[in-house]
Amino acid sequence: MTTRLAQRLDVVKPSATLAVSARAAALRAEGRTIYPFGVGEPDFDTPVHVRDAAKAALDAGATRYTAVSGTLELRKAIAAQSTRTRGVPCKPDQVVVSVGAKHALFNLAIALYEPGDEVIIPAPYWVSYPEQVRLVGATPVVIETTEADGFLLRPEALAAALTPKTKAVILCTPSNPTGGAYPREWLQKIVDVMAQHDAFLIVDEIYASLVYDAFEQVSALSLASEAARDRIIVIDGVSKTYAMTGWRIGWSITTAAIAKALDVVQSQSTTNPTALAQAATIVALDGPQDSVRAMRDRFATRRTLMVETLRTIPGVTCRMPEGAFYAFADVRGLYGLSWAKARSGKLDGDLEVATFLLEEAGCAAVPGSAFGAPGYLRFSYATSEQNIEAGLAAAKAAVLKARG
Ligand SMILES: Cc1ncc(COP(=O)(O)O)c(C=O)c1O
Repeated sequence: MTTRLAQRLDVVKPSATLAVSARAAALRAEGRTIYPFGVGEPDFDTPVHVRDAAKAALDAGATRYTAVSGTLELRKAIAAQSTRTRGVPCKPDQVVVSVGAKHALFNLAIALYEPGDEVIIPAPYWVSYPEQVRLVGATPVVIETTEADGFLLRPEALAAALTPKTKAVILCTPSNPTGGAYPREWLQKIVDVMAQHDAFLIVDEIYASLVYDAFEQVSALSLASEAARDRIIVIDGVSKTYAMTGWRIGWSITTAAIAKALDVVQSQSTTNPTALAQAATIVALDGPQDSVRAMRDRFATRRTLMVETLRTIPGVTCRMPEGAFYAFADVRGLYGLSWAKARSGKLDGDLEVATFLLEEAGCAAVPGSAFGAPGYLRFSYATSEQNIEAGLAAAKAAVLKARG
């Protein structure tokens, strides 16, 4: 029997983090304490009133197909929330609800990108952006950013990278993996550069509710002229804001014409996202928001604890991120430390540092290479203060021991 897979899979990279997470799982199975700094989801439960709404919806018969792009009631709630938070009128026919924000992005890839198209993605990037572009035969154009710039894409760098082949630019603010977020003036310049080009600006705002201190979260949509808004596509969802990762509800906000195209794509794959989860999402968006604020406050405390403790580890530096729940630490100062299990006997590369911290301290963090940023590790603080304190104390002890 021949088992020939489609060639399109040849270009998709297997996850660079797989080896580390598989090893973490194996160590946990052996009974080792593993500090879960690799996670990409809130450790909180979905708010009770949202869970109750799902139970009620089940009994009320939310068990059938809905409209492909989501119920009108949900799209109305999303449009109202977007109008409220972004200050730009949004109508239900501009909204397509999908099986998570990742699916919303995948639908966009199918609807928009063709072989020959370029999609600009600043690094560090969320792992799925370039892979989805490759899967549909288009070309990701990665632009490196610097820590000094807060890992933000410079408007001049964007202007230089745009070509007639550019179909879209994907920004994530606040960012996974860096936690960096675009301040108003910076984003305005990006929007202005984009206004000169016939390309889409896709902004992933899945972490928009998680910004700290006095940082002002601004949507690119709010900054664009009415004409330029048609080329801005917003990605959002409930996964991070309402601790609803397992419910799989995310959406795109775009023009009615593109929304129709996304509806066609989705109608031939998943049909509607789960009816029950849609019903619960309406209550999440329209109901009390105090749990969102409470979760954000907890993340804010953990952010400070995580970053300040990371900074006490000799050889590690870390900028204070504006949002999301990740600290992106520069670990190049640990290269060269002796470790018997290292290939050359000395730590060399972020993958090896990640493995060292996992084996010697039980800290599971994600190597920056996975996000196009070698030399860094992503530490998620979507875990308890106790885990952050104990895990980083173990990491520091391991580093001090290796330093001798
Ligand atoms: C930047 C970013 N976008 C999108 C997603 C996908 O979210 P969802 O759970 O809605 O598919 C994630 C999840 O990790 C993310 O970090």
